[in-house]
Amino acid sequence: MRIAVINGPNLNLLGQREPSIYGVTTLAALETQVRESAATLGVTIEWIQSNHEGELVDLVQGLASRCEGAIVNLGAYTHTSLAIRDAFLAAPIPFIEVHLSNLYRREAARHHSLTADLAIGMISGLGARGYLLALDALAGVLRDG
Ligand code: DQA
Repeated sequence: MRIAVINGPNLNLLGQREPSIYGVTTLAALETQVRESAATLGVTIEWIQSNHEGELVDLVQGLASRCEGAIVNLGAYTHTSLAIRDAFLAAPIPFIEVHLSNLYRREAARHHSLTADLAIGMISGLGARGYLLALDALAGVLRDG
């Protein structure tokens, strides 16, 4: 089973970026944790990070041909990108939306997600642990429904 993990803008700065909100785990360390957990589940990971909206649109359009599901943290594009929402509608793939921070404890502009209603579910506020929980849940859903 192949699952993509998509990380949007500024997530490349994890570990140094507002650590009181996003934690001290770097993106590289998070990738290692996810790959290790995936190995125990028999899952192959396609790890993606991009700061560019159009590049993320291209990636989402091509996802379903390569992967059975995705874990998605679009960063600020979560709240702004109709284009990425349209890409998920045009090329549907089962996905779980993840946010390191609890969106609902933050500014009102972060309370709305343009993609959450397309997701199987959303995990918000559990830090890096949210990615591992999403992986476990998604692998289970893809295997057993
Ligand atoms: C984020 C929350 C977004 O509002 C923010 O723009 C991010 C990260 C999170 O993981 O908590 O870049 O998606």
